[in-house]
Amino acid sequence: MRSPKMSRRDHLRLLGTGATALAGSAAGVLPVSGQTHGEPTAPESPEVIADRERRMKWWHAARFGMFIHWGLYSVIGQHEWAMEVEGIPVAQYEQLAKHFKPQPHAARAWAKLAKRAGQKYMVMTTKHHEGFCNFETKLTNYCAPKQGPGRDLVAEYVEAARAEGLRVGFYYSLMDWHHPDGARCATDEAARVRFVEYTHGLIRELMTQYGKIDVLWYDVSWPLTPEGWESEKMNKMVFELQPDIIVNNRNGLPGDFATPEQHITAPSEAGRAWETCMTMNDSWGYQKADDNWKSTKTIVRNLITCAHETGNYLLNIGPKPDGSIPEESVRVLTEVGEWMDKNGPTIYDSDRITAQDSYYANYTRRGNTLYMHVYFWPGETLAANWVPFFNPQSVVAIGGLQAKVLSAKLYASGTPVKFEQGDEYVRFMGLPVSTPDQPATVLAIECDQEPVVDHNDVRKYRKREGVGI
Ligand code: GLC
Repeated sequence: MRSPKMSRRDHLRLLGTGATALAGSAAGVLPVSGQTHGEPTAPESPEVIADRERRMKWWHAARFGMFIHWGLYSVIGQHEWAMEVEGIPVAQYEQLAKHFKPQPHAARAWAKLAKRAGQKYMVMTTKHHEGFCNFETKLTNYCAPKQGPGRDLVAEYVEAARAEGLRVGFYYSLMDWHHPDGARCATDEAARVRFVEYTHGLIRELMTQYGKIDVLWYDVSWPLTPEGWESEKMNKMVFELQPDIIVNNRNGLPGDFATPEQHITAPSEAGRAWETCMTMNDSWGYQKADDNWKSTKTIVRNLITCAHETGNYLLNIGPKPDGSIPEESVRVLTEVGEWMDKNGPTIYDSDRITAQDSYYANYTRRGNTLYMHVYFWPGETLAANWVPFFNPQSVVAIGGLQAKVLSAKLYASGTPVKFEQGDEYVRFMGLPVSTPDQPATVLAIECDQEPVVDHNDVRKYRKREGVGI
């Protein structure tokens, strides 16, 4: 027998990494050394908490976002860490800047696809570890308007996202493999001062040039500590310029939300907001040879799992150098969108829920309604020949539901579902033999109170009279 607590963790990890076959391969295997994820250490004042709630309301409701990794590395097509893991000399790598010549307004197709998939916000790499700025800056010539693209790619992205009504996020890597002070800042104080001024300056430009920005997504803080980066001052500036923005925890401070990467694990601290970022194959930046794509079903299951744990799912695309989206990402995201068209309301803005998942379904909740997401549809079972419980087929059942069921229906079609509730179970009966909806069918189960599902209760309290053997 499994211990439900343990198995949940294992299960969540499995969903994130089992599907990619390799534990968090893209980022997990690579040495993200010096990565400090800040976590809260001291309790916060009610004002701070209330302000965060205000700023994060849309984000909690959104649940699903699109991550975009795009830069000079896309030209190579071997993942965004190529410069470091292949040891490409800076003077050679920077030649790519002249030859990065994307199609105009490539971001419009990203935004359209995001909207189609049911994603509510986007987060684009403005500068990745390679140091190339996709935006207009006065602080370096190593930027899109002054190199191959000849224009501000971040401006195009912002315009595209807004045109589709999506929230706008900026990814920004503190680590910089190109800037002369990017490594020596750790040991040379004059270099640190220069590099921090440069970094804060770039962030200031990002926070002032594009109107209202919704998310600032810092990444890798190597090689400095939060003190070295002057992260407090950095966040203060960001909030002064963008009072409604939310920031993540990768400049070494806790920020507004935690960022589990390539796995779905809610932080242990109760109430801490979190967002799992994940690749659709095993690479963030375009990797032309990576064919290890997650299925639509895995992506939908992951999204359900995030919603069940009241977290967000930031799913990555790695556009090609011309800005077009790999075909497999388009296909899977379109299919996810078809499912979200019908079932989105069971995901967005769902309430916190106390419910263990079963081995073939997971749950979300809104008010007193329990949404059961069945991703392995039971269909017909041989057991129905002898066991009344499985009749009339098909039967979907929940053990340990602590609420009275008032009504039930198939969510997408609205078809009413017959049910019977005993002390230990509720059975939904006479359901179609094959799954009504792919990759998961949702049952909407209206209860008389907030539904809690605890399978342990079945084990502990089940009636054992009537044992016949
Ligand atoms: C890691 C990787 C980076 C990627 C990021 C996404 O930090 O270093 O390449 O952008 O994860 O979360």
